[in-house]
Amino acid sequence: MPFRTLNDAGDLKGKRVLLRVDLNVPVKDGKVTDTTRIDRVASTITELSDRGAKVALLAHFKRPKGKRVAEMSLAPVAEAVAKIIGRPVGFAGDCIGAEAEEAVAALNDGGIVLLENTRYYAGEEANDAEFTATLAKLGDVYVNDAFSAAHRAHASTEGLAHHMPAYAGRAMQAELEALEKALAKPERPVVAIVGGAKVSGKLELLANLIGKVDALVIGGAMANTFLAAKGVAIGKSLSEPDLADAARQIMLSAADAGCAIVLPTDVVVAAALEANAKAETVALDAVPADHMILDVGADTLAAVNTWIDKAKTLVWNGPLGAFETPPFDRSTVAAAKHAAMRTRDAGLLSVAGGGDTVAALNLAGAGADFSYVSAAGGAFLEWLEGKALPGVEALRAA
Ligand code: 3PG
Repeated sequence: MPFRTLNDAGDLKGKRVLLRVDLNVPVKDGKVTDTTRIDRVASTITELSDRGAKVALLAHFKRPKGKRVAEMSLAPVAEAVAKIIGRPVGFAGDCIGAEAEEAVAALNDGGIVLLENTRYYAGEEANDAEFTATLAKLGDVYVNDAFSAAHRAHASTEGLAHHMPAYAGRAMQAELEALEKALAKPERPVVAIVGGAKVSGKLELLANLIGKVDALVIGGAMANTFLAAKGVAIGKSLSEPDLADAARQIMLSAADAGCAIVLPTDVVVAAALEANAKAETVALDAVPADHMILDVGADTLAAVNTWIDKAKTLVWNGPLGAFETPPFDRSTVAAAKHAAMRTRDAGLLSVAGGGDTVAALNLAGAGADFSYVSAAGGAFLEWLEGKALPGVEALRAA
């Protein structure tokens, strides 16, 4: 079912718009240190303001668990939002009650106010009917621009959509369109690169991807679990021996589904995970018993790049090696650069997401060339798992 966007919202002049954004941004010493999530929603805020709406921003910050926790106030974030959009943004020290009502009532057409952390109230995470109705009194129209919080069925991410006309904001719209192109209606071949430390957190994701992609590249420490399940001696490498059966099952299901599983064929090993440790590339049958696998080798990287060359669509979540510790960043950086080049020069549709992935792409200087880089963590993973996200579903139904 399609969702409605701001194109469908009609005349917003003088209307009170409750705009849910994700302002769960890193803050140090009262200053926002990474503004990506604010940058993403800036155009929705300014568009609503330009259309004459009275804009009340709703957001959570960290996890205060239903209590007022001073360090989890959104006050410092209001300043960062104002700076980025280049317009004044007021701040109300509460998201419901007299203070919030007065702040919204005082808005001129086009005015903007950020309301305090919705998670100061337990009713937010409980999606409590009474709390949602109290929030709903503040607005005439609901716009959700927080894809990265859409896996939460909370009052401000889901409940409000049932109280008034509801629309996807521009960032939500861009994210849903990109994700749709990547997995729902992709151009084939589709290749997924999945890496990171653990198979355990990604079983559902792997199972879902197998049914959707033509090749699944498995890297990072999670590849060790697969290699060990195939009988490779992996030395001291990080792995999850309990998941050997699950890994074998994934390989069998992939074979049934016609999905190629691409595992390392050579690996970079060292005695310890330390910056600039003495590293060497070895074949799979030559991993020293006292060493650990920390990256994929050059032959594997070449195979990954060949899959990227064949792909029309690429979905990427998780690094291929221990990229935070050089030299074990090499294959992740090289593959990211290669995907960026294919996106620029060969029309590859490349979509990446998940905390570590974004950091790895930025390290490679490749993020800007990807077709779409999601700023979502958990929501992106749940989408890769094929789950319906409550915040998105509520918009479809609305
Ligand atoms: C995030 O940072 O991924 C979102 O803001 C959701 O936050 P949460 O995991 O605390 O719900």
